Amino acid sequence: MTMAESLPSLSRRALVAGLAGLGGLVITGCSRSPEPGQAQVDALADSQAAPQRASMTVYRDPSCGCCKAWAEIAGEAGYRVSVVDRPDMSAIKRKLGVPEELASCHTTVVGGYVIEGHVPLAEVRRLLAARPAGIKGIAVPGMPRGSPGMEMPDGSTDPFEVMAFGRDGEVSVFRA
Ligand code: CU
Ligand code: CU
Repeated sequence: MTMAESLPSLSRRALVAGLAGLGGLVITGCSRSPEPGQAQVDALADSQAAPQRASMTVYRDPSCGCCKAWAEIAGEAGYRVSVVDRPDMSAIKRKLGVPEELASCHTTVVGGYVIEGHVPLAEVRRLLAARPAGIKGIAVPGMPRGSPGMEMPDGSTDPFEVMAFGRDGEVSVFRA
């Protein structure tokens, strides 16, 4: 076993296999949010951009492209985004307290919270507005197709939920 367990070796298939072990966590998801029209998307982008020009640091493995796609979406939503290339992503996740079962590719720090993976920016905004106690961060585990930065050319999607994690690694569905 090597110390440098970097994300390229953590294949998407492995992540998905890991997710399967989570059982019920990933059953519901996008089904309740219908495809927004462009006007809604614009309105959403505006509402996301308005209150915060918060700085955001996105740690990512240099060989991973979807992280960059997410970072761009965050930039469009109004955050001042710094992307930091790190080959030791699993060590960063450990240091930031991301529970292993919630791991995705990139890990973001914003407003004192940790955002793991392809979390919709509306959820980040809700987190930063509500600042719920006892939550260290939120996560979309794995890399569900159709999540921000993981859009598929054929439009296919995987259902996903946004999870919250606490300082002691306790995990729950995020509701702010
Ligand atoms: Cu990704
Ligand atoms: Cu990525």
